[in-house]
Amino acid sequence: MGVVGCGTMGSGIAEIVARAGIEVAFVEVSEEAVAAGRDRIAGSLERAVSGGKLEAAERDAVLGRISGATEYASLAGADLVIEAVPEQLGVKQDVFRALDEVLKPEAIVATNTSSLPVMDIAVQTSRPDRVVGLHFFNPAPVMDLVELVTTVVTAPEAVEAARGFAERIGKTAVVAKDRAGFIANLLLFPYLNQAVGMLEDRYATREDIDASMRFGTGHPMGPLALLDLIGLDSAVNIMERMYEQFRATRYAPRPLLKHLVAAGYLGRKTGRGFYTYEAPGAPTVVADEASGRAKADPATIDGWTTIGILGTGTMASGMAEVCVKAGYRVVIRGRSAEKAQGAVKAIDKSLSKAVDRGKLEASAKDELLGALTATGDIADFAECDLVIEAVAEDLALKREFFAELDRVTQPEALLATTTSSLPVIECAMSTSRPERVVGIHFFNPAAIMRLVEIVPTVRTDPGALEQARAFTDKVGKHGVLCGDRAGFIVNALLFPYLNDAVKMLQDGYASVSEIDTAMKLGAGHPMGPFALMDVVGLDVTLEICKALFAEFREPAFAPAELLEHMVSIGYLGRKTGRGFLVY
Ligand SMILES: NC(=O)c1ccc[n+]([C@@H]2O[C@H](COP(=O)([O-])OP(=O)(O)OC[C@H]3O[C@@H](n4cnc5c(N)ncnc54)[C@H](O)[C@@H]3O)[C@@H](O)[C@H]2O)c1
Repeated sequence: MGVVGCGTMGSGIAEIVARAGIEVAFVEVSEEAVAAGRDRIAGSLERAVSGGKLEAAERDAVLGRISGATEYASLAGADLVIEAVPEQLGVKQDVFRALDEVLKPEAIVATNTSSLPVMDIAVQTSRPDRVVGLHFFNPAPVMDLVELVTTVVTAPEAVEAARGFAERIGKTAVVAKDRAGFIANLLLFPYLNQAVGMLEDRYATREDIDASMRFGTGHPMGPLALLDLIGLDSAVNIMERMYEQFRATRYAPRPLLKHLVAAGYLGRKTGRGFYTYEAPGAPTVVADEASGRAKADPATIDGWTTIGILGTGTMASGMAEVCVKAGYRVVIRGRSAEKAQGAVKAIDKSLSKAVDRGKLEASAKDELLGALTATGDIADFAECDLVIEAVAEDLALKREFFAELDRVTQPEALLATTTSSLPVIECAMSTSRPERVVGIHFFNPAAIMRLVEIVPTVRTDPGALEQARAFTDKVGKHGVLCGDRAGFIVNALLFPYLNDAVKMLQDGYASVSEIDTAMKLGAGHPMGPFALMDVVGLDVTLEICKALFAEFREPAFAPAELLEHMVSIGYLGRKTGRGFLVY
């Protein structure tokens, strides 16, 4: 097997192929580059050895299977060659012409391009039917996905041979047609770009944006840290290609991204991108002028003893559980005392599970349940220091409740809504104390998810905000701050991405399982977008997409027709036994 270009990707590909027992010859531009390529591979293998993932003897055997040269003639015997030179069409075309001259006629040639048309490269050879894209993910030895890109002239045997090769080196191949971004990048980059837009708008800090996606969705990295890893110059290039293809603003690289590139802040590789790193290439972030928000002062909520929860649904019972566990007394108010008692039962069930799993003493459970009061009377909130509203997502209803909370609670009590998409300011303005109203947005299941979005409005008093932050710390959650607009951080970034996945499916570009596999293996997400929508509920997904579209009027946020159709025929996801998948 041959590799052309032994940089970031080429060295990773050579390593994983040699580790699968296959002989690899690579070609580089100079003797120095050959040596640098070898060092890169040796360094990576060394890390595997010191991490206990590879035997020293195996490392030597792997290195023994890899040779480097500056002459294409060294690739003459190869059955498959993968090109991984820089992302410039002219450079790649030159490489393919040179390869075509030395390779045997039946050899397959693959490009690792992320965004260039494979067809424009294939036509440089006398064998366009034996040219494919094999798009590996960085770091190639670790990431299990390979996108196998076919053009209109690719021969089926070439596809099967490339797929067999991917399997032999332990990768999962998903087949994608020849267009910029393929599956994973086409879904990932608009999301990353939108996150840059949030920072550019000063909607939230870089740390809060990244923490939101890690703790709110379980992604392995936040979007800005991921861009730093990918390289901001590469990201701009890839997005420019996507924009040329789709002409939609969602793909146009945000000005901030281009400015950072112009300034030479290309991400980890230069030691600075959205974050500052210990040294060029180092993974460790160090403080810079954009770092640091002082911790909330716990003294601001020193006297707090009692929290009110308005509502009896999933979020209400989850939040009540979190509050009693943090040592508060909790008053749960439902439409009736029986309804409220139902929420207490849900908490009882959740705590019993914790007891069964040995995470909670049975006596501690009884004590926690003893701290809960179920009531049908809103006047029982009179002693509360904080009331969190979690009734149905209906603005008129929430406004009525806020007016009532304002009447029944002590004037110094903090009032909060856990709305996901309605304006917090509308709730605040139904009270006589808008300066003491904030959004405190928990994630489902509240007892488990670490993230809380804290949402001050234009009327919120700094002291009230400080209390909301201190409370979030006290109940053991990771609080982030963001402005009062639909979707806050997580939903505003997540749902347009989910909607994009539905559009990709509806276009017939890839299947549900290909897309889910690509995002799980290529981006390291805990679930693919379709499996996730099925859990969230397609009706809920549609409502959030509509709310985002209504707020931003961004055409790309308009819900995909397919999503609307699935909801209208009642395929709502797991809860109805059928959504994008069948249960
Ligand atoms: N970095 C990523 O995350 C990533 C992921 C997937 C795909 N890709 C794609 O992989 C390809 C390579 O990217 P990279 O990040 O490894 O780049 P890189 O700059 O790290 O490596 C490119 C290597 O190619 C060598 N080279 C340049 N011209 C050559 C030629 N004519 N013949 C032989 N070698 C030559 C360079 O010396 C360098 O070592 C690009 O097409 C890129 O879009 C990159």
